[in-house]
Amino acid sequence: MNTGILGQRYQADDALGYYEGPEVGHLLLRAFAEAGLDPDALDIDDLASLDEFRALGRAATVALADLASVAPRERVLDIGAGLGGPARFLAARRGAHVTALDATLRFCRAAELLTRGAGLADRVEVVRGDALALPFPNATFDVAWSQAVSQNIADKPRFIAEATRVVRPGGRVALFEVVAGPGGPLRLPVPWADHERESWLMRPEELRALIEAGPLELVAWNLGEAALATIAAAAQTLRPGTGAAALGLKLLMPDFEARMAGLARNVAEDRITLVQAVARRSGTHQ
Ligand SMILES: C[S@@+](CC[C@H](N)C(=O)[O-])C[C@H]1O[C@@H](n2cnc3c(N)ncnc32)[C@H](O)[C@@H]1O
Repeated sequence: MNTGILGQRYQADDALGYYEGPEVGHLLLRAFAEAGLDPDALDIDDLASLDEFRALGRAATVALADLASVAPRERVLDIGAGLGGPARFLAARRGAHVTALDATLRFCRAAELLTRGAGLADRVEVVRGDALALPFPNATFDVAWSQAVSQNIADKPRFIAEATRVVRPGGRVALFEVVAGPGGPLRLPVPWADHERESWLMRPEELRALIEAGPLELVAWNLGEAALATIAAAAQTLRPGTGAAALGLKLLMPDFEARMAGLARNVAEDRITLVQAVARRSGTHQ
């Protein structure tokens, strides 16, 4: 096992290594220049094709924010925040105060650059850290939020336990996850892995059992088509042209389109599916 970026030992080291690569700041600045965007006056809608770093883009974030009823002034922790697109959305459009935590240094740096450029540094704080050892006291947040991260994490019980620990009683854990389907083993590559050792997909019933085993009450559980329906409805609410065409995840992963095609093939063959889960933390308010 390698030593992780924070000097701790990670079960998910191979997965974290998967996300390492060159710094992205200069790529972003060049792309903004080509797209005619002012890097000091960024519109979060223009960024959505780049900073929603997973399948189904901004619409998936809108759908999860609705399901989790994220409200103004709530304190949200985005676990595995990537470039911080969902965090900025929750701050700018839902009035939340968001902590965007990610383990990958180059993504944290890019998240800070984009957050400053969007004028949201007073409402979005970027923190480098590990989902399995969250650097926050118990009950710090109203919402612990995570999208498309657990597929890179082996220790699912600890992932759920840490998200639950940092939420106050009455707060919510909100997840949008890729999970294993009944159609057979994953076909690689996919956007989160080149090798089997980088991917840990759980079955939906395992995720549900983990949630229900903790001090959490499941309030929304949308699997497969049910999740896709909420995301399709959310997509209708987006401004036409959301996501500047010159930006895109190909800036981070040049072969991203081929990887997305791999993802779509796995979905079509029922090897994977998507789930949205929102659970309320039980216990008394502190
Ligand atoms: C597919 S991206 C999703 C990013 C973001 N949630 C989004 O939806 O735009 C997965 C992210 O999880 C992060 N990640 C993976 N393992 C992690 C861990 N143990 N702790 C914190 N972040 C982690 C990666 O660095 C990467 O930014």
